[in-house]
Amino acid sequence: MAGLPMIFFMQIEPNEPNAVPRSPTYDRPMPEPLNVLLIGSGGREHAMARGLAKSPRLAKLWVTADNPGLLAIGSRVDVPVDIKEIYRLEQFCDRENIGLIVVGPEDPISEGFADKLATDSRLVFAPCKAAARLEADKAWAKDLMRSASIPTAEARAFAYAEQAIAYAQSRENSLVVKAAGLAKGKGVIVCDTQAEAVDAIKRVMIAEEFGDAGRTVIVEERMKGPEISVLALVDGRNIMVLPACQDHKRLSDGGVGPNTGGMGAYCPTPIATDEIMERVEREVLVPTVDALRREGITYRGVLYAGLMLTPAGPKVLEFNVRFGDPEAQPLLARYQGDLLELCLAICTGKLHEVETAWDPRPACCVVLASEGYPVKPRTGLVIEGLEKACELTDVVVDHAGTSRNKEGKFVTNGGRVLGVTGLGDTLEQARARAYEACELIRFDGMTYRRDIASQAIASASTDTNSTTIEV
Ligand code: AMP
Ligand code: GLY
Repeated sequence: MAGLPMIFFMQIEPNEPNAVPRSPTYDRPMPEPLNVLLIGSGGREHAMARGLAKSPRLAKLWVTADNPGLLAIGSRVDVPVDIKEIYRLEQFCDRENIGLIVVGPEDPISEGFADKLATDSRLVFAPCKAAARLEADKAWAKDLMRSASIPTAEARAFAYAEQAIAYAQSRENSLVVKAAGLAKGKGVIVCDTQAEAVDAIKRVMIAEEFGDAGRTVIVEERMKGPEISVLALVDGRNIMVLPACQDHKRLSDGGVGPNTGGMGAYCPTPIATDEIMERVEREVLVPTVDALRREGITYRGVLYAGLMLTPAGPKVLEFNVRFGDPEAQPLLARYQGDLLELCLAICTGKLHEVETAWDPRPACCVVLASEGYPVKPRTGLVIEGLEKACELTDVVVDHAGTSRNKEGKFVTNGGRVLGVTGLGDTLEQARARAYEACELIRFDGMTYRRDIASQAIASASTDTNSTTIEV
């Protein structure tokens, strides 16, 4: 069934050097209870913190941000979370006897926090730096996909603007121009015309709109079709494919306006049929983990494939090496197992042994954003109605960009302020619950999309296979 996870046991060659996992703690039982450090500051991390806090195995949870949602569950780390001063975090972990570090966002993952912080007695739930290139270096990811015949848009990478422009001018079809590095989800420009593609290349490489992320540019064929996000848990040998989500990246209703980190997501999405999910597993996820292994890289953590369902089948738009935000919110709202045990199992190659449990009901998350997002969000605005929204049954409100003012009131402190997730027997009910909660919350200039999951619901009664969903 498309709505529940599927687990696959992958082949691993006994003589392969990578059969030996990177972490020396591989077969050692972890002490219980366990102190956990959660790195990250947003709604995704709040959702993860909730899950971790439910574990009977958790001794103390440490968090790295002043997000009041996180502070309600964990204690604030008092050292910088910075790769340049990573020794301070190492000392902190030694002092506080941290047994597990869970890393949410892409930046610390791609900077190699897992490599730096894992020790004999400390596991890190995050892929290693080499694996994180899948997200942090789109040119490398494209090469890897090409070498493993993983379906993706045809693309070329360029280090010089003139060459990229000449290539774009030689193409007849619509193109997409991407900064190859990490650009907070903003470094992708979808172009209708050749002139737009040339302009996009100039923005990336000459105006350096995305900074160093745009040193290399990818010029790729523009594909058409609905998009899904398929996330899998990978422990180095086993892969558990989670039910597909749909993210809504554009700011405004109808899929218009600037790209954002994500304005809402729901899970499962009805367009991801069993057949599509099997293809994604067989043609994308397993070959990717295998291709990494051939490069000498053992993948452990969350592998996120952003996919377009083209007439020729699912094709990769991008890989992320972490839970998506906001996809994590509806996904984790459905997880009823022990998240801490799940993270440990992934770190230790024991995904096949861990007991997982999922709420079969769909979940829908609506992001409440501050006016000005994604360019210059307004901060310091008092948020009202949060308590009432949290009291609703089958509703979870995750703090993303909030803080408290001097009077102790919740105020906006970022672009994406809150993630409001509803669960229901149907997607329609989940969505209605989320919106009911949104209507109880108020702050000046609060903006949110009114159409999260609405096309999926509208098309559920028609032919879902031929539906194009505007996200
Ligand atoms: P990405 O961050 O690579 O997932 O790209 C952000 C968004 O740009 C995607 O969700 C798509 O809507 C769009 N996009 C990226 N690559 C392509 C492509 N090759 N064809 C069409 N749309 C694309
Ligand atoms: N929601 C997309 C991302 O997390 O990159």
